[in-house]
Amino acid sequence: MKAIAWVDGSLIPPEEARVPLEDRGFLFGESAYEAMLVRNGRAFSLELHLSRLERSAEGARIVPARFMNRVRDAVKALLQASEGGDALLYLQVTGGSGPREHLPAGDGHSPGVYGTLRPFDHVVLRENQRRGLRAILRQDRRWPNATWKTTQLLGNLLGKREAAAAGAEEVLLHDADGALLEGGSTSLFVVCGGVAITTPTTRNILPGITRSLLLEHASDRVREADIDIRFLAASDEVFVASTTRPVMGVIEIDGRKVGNGKPGPVTQELARRFGELMAAAWGE
Ligand code: PDD
Repeated sequence: MKAIAWVDGSLIPPEEARVPLEDRGFLFGESAYEAMLVRNGRAFSLELHLSRLERSAEGARIVPARFMNRVRDAVKALLQASEGGDALLYLQVTGGSGPREHLPAGDGHSPGVYGTLRPFDHVVLRENQRRGLRAILRQDRRWPNATWKTTQLLGNLLGKREAAAAGAEEVLLHDADGALLEGGSTSLFVVCGGVAITTPTTRNILPGITRSLLLEHASDRVREADIDIRFLAASDEVFVASTTRPVMGVIEIDGRKVGNGKPGPVTQELARRFGELMAAAWGE
């Protein structure tokens, strides 16, 4: 399977794909997106991702009725192009393109719809899950609408750059009151007494789909509650979870070991259970 992009109804190599210069996603960040894993020609939790895309777009005032048919066409074409292989599918929806005005005339432009599909390596993912990742802790500098999956990602990126500079792979964000929120591109879980606690969606976090599936399918082990930053020191395990990192242990925070510095038993159990959930959805 080769990397491929979907633009205006055509599948083309990503390096040839172009976004119009005056696309509002590029000019203003007026853009919502989704990422999902693909195997056997099926996208994992497709409908949950498409519902969140609609909700994020509505937040950005991009009207779903004006793009959802094209999004479904893009998904269909990209799934076919995946040839049954393992892939990561990104969808981007923007406010469309036209002369640069903060507010476009009339009812605006036709939304832009773009998609990409790239091979995804589950062997590397499993290796990373076995090893775990290092993180740093920083105060959240994002805007207060992180609940929408939009491309207002500079706050996330700056945190991730600081993590990389410190030799870490993720930034964990807390708010000004010391409440833990989420990772720069992951949901956050802190394990104490055999139970994984994750921040409620009433805080400024993305309602992660991996997170919601863990809450639903592993309710014996996962619960929502506010997590004070001071709680980290008393925790047994910490892990993050996302589409591309479905349950990955955090083994070090700001240079200090979490537990014994290896992914813990609850993290490993939930990684296994989530893997089984994905396999079942893919008909394995
Ligand atoms: N990131 N929080 C943030 C800020 C994220 O960017 C993501 C996903 C998540 C987890 O959401 P989900 O379980 O639905 O993937 C939480 C994706 C993978 C990305 O931006 O590439």
